[in-house]
Amino acid sequence: MTVMETIVTDFLIIGSGVAGLRAAIELAQAGDVVVVTKDEMAESSTEYAQGGVAVAMSDEDEVGIHFEDTLKAGDGLCREDAVRVLVEEGPERIAELIRWGAEFDRQGSKLDFTLEAAHSRRRVLHAHGDSTGKEIERVLIKRVQCFENIRRMPFSMSMDLVTDGESCFGAYVLQKQRPVKILARATVLATGGAGQLFARTTNPRVATSDGMAMAIRAGVLMEDMEFIQFHPTVLYAPSAPQFLLSEAMRGEGGVLLNIYGERFMKNYHPDGELAPRDVVSRSIISEMVKTKSTHVYLDLTHLDGEFLKRRFPRIYRTCLNYDLDITRDRIPVSPAAHYTMGGIKTDTEGRTSLRGLFSAGEVACTGVHGANRLASNSLLEGLVYGARAGRAAIDDALKEGELQTALGINLGDNLSTIENIENLRTQVRRLMWEKVGIIRCNESLSKARKALEELIPTVSGQYVTKQELELKNMVNTARVITEAAYHRLCSIGAHYRSDYPEKEGCYFHSIIKPGEGGKIEIEREFVG
Ligand code: FAD
Ligand code: SIN
Repeated sequence: MTVMETIVTDFLIIGSGVAGLRAAIELAQAGDVVVVTKDEMAESSTEYAQGGVAVAMSDEDEVGIHFEDTLKAGDGLCREDAVRVLVEEGPERIAELIRWGAEFDRQGSKLDFTLEAAHSRRRVLHAHGDSTGKEIERVLIKRVQCFENIRRMPFSMSMDLVTDGESCFGAYVLQKQRPVKILARATVLATGGAGQLFARTTNPRVATSDGMAMAIRAGVLMEDMEFIQFHPTVLYAPSAPQFLLSEAMRGEGGVLLNIYGERFMKNYHPDGELAPRDVVSRSIISEMVKTKSTHVYLDLTHLDGEFLKRRFPRIYRTCLNYDLDITRDRIPVSPAAHYTMGGIKTDTEGRTSLRGLFSAGEVACTGVHGANRLASNSLLEGLVYGARAGRAAIDDALKEGELQTALGINLGDNLSTIENIENLRTQVRRLMWEKVGIIRCNESLSKARKALEELIPTVSGQYVTKQELELKNMVNTARVITEAAYHRLCSIGAHYRSDYPEKEGCYFHSIIKPGEGGKIEIEREFVG
């Protein structure tokens, strides 16, 4: 066996978005912490979050109303205890963030709250107009830097968990092309979502579902992986990136038009442009099909130009780079994969089915989002559940003597390589977008299952490059998403089957048990 450098710490955190950083701050009170992250510290979905963070703190709002709105958006599949924790602990986590230096936008001395789809109150706090995530990430990184016992390891990609099948003892990590073993008394997976599995996505390049795939390979229970949220308004312009046009733009009065300049959302839902995201995304697809076009338009030209520049400075600047002036031009948009509602099954304290392994943020599934996440609830989730997972990891950490220092993986003799990685990556992303995307059916899902099954032998080796590991992770997670979507023979929230459009019989959670040799077993946990 190749001798690998071993680092021993009390707590290992994988990922440095809002959930991982908030967990690190909690854990630093109880021992030494290592934070490994795949790229620079700030590179994450958190960094690009625009619209804001939802929290019941305005004079016109109540925690109970935030609770109800979240349940309604989740379409009957939210776990109520998890939602209660989110809305009740949210205000304290935000107040703490403000004490640590977060500058949310204000009207005079009062915090300014905006509106987003499916919120019955203006409750979304924002920073620098449309750079809310960047502000939260900045404050958390600054806070983490205050702790001498938090060791930061950027450009370090976790490869797999160190586990004997009963407990988790840390992770194998690719540190600048060199595998190292990090042993820890508790490990927190906070690696974010799976957006990169789809050809069109708002997610950054790092969002390749690594944490989910590591958990799947370790046999950890997963939940509701079929629920992928597609954001309705993502820039659609030749040579432009798949850049998000925040829902807050519709909250401030932006409207959707088809290519003939007709407003169409009221034909689909009484709430028009502010209907739940899944409804708006499907309505856009339907309008694109009807008008044989590749996009619709987001139109803000009737709003005050100076207000738009002030309210959405980052979006204004980015669109201008592609010759689109949001104050004068209609912006071409179409939907893209945005958020993974399912993930590693956890309790409300971030405990997973594997002892010593905790999880928080988008990689996890507490059940807080049900079948469809309420806009701007995920930054709050990262803060609330990051802190909770940290506290549980302190309480349940393994004793030092329990660490299995002898466990290892046999690299060196067995290394594999994958030919044509970029082509295969594109192939998987197209497959998922076309066959497991916004509208699914038996035929499309069967084709995806078969294609993914055929890819398994190609990605089943031991790898030590980031590209190969990412592709392996993408295929492993794509299979689980596809299986769960294939077996849910009904439509609810973000999961829509054209062959089973009814909601009847759909009130269950998919509890997914990954097994030996890539086997996937799915059990239904019925609600109510
Ligand atoms: P992330 O912030 O994605 O962080 C994951 C971290 O894990 C990253 O540091 C990544 O590099 C690291 N990582 C991944 N794999 C590995 C690995 N193998 N090894 C080591 N490190 C790894 N939500 C809202 O509530 N409000 C919004 O306004 C909003 N806007 C959004 C806009 C965009 C464009 C996007 C993409 C998302 C938006 N969301 C928004 C969703 C929200 O940003 C995310 O759900 C949330 O930030 C996830 O936080 P996280 O800490 O779980 O994961
Ligand atoms: C947005 O600004 O539209 C994204 C908000 C979110 O995903 O919560």
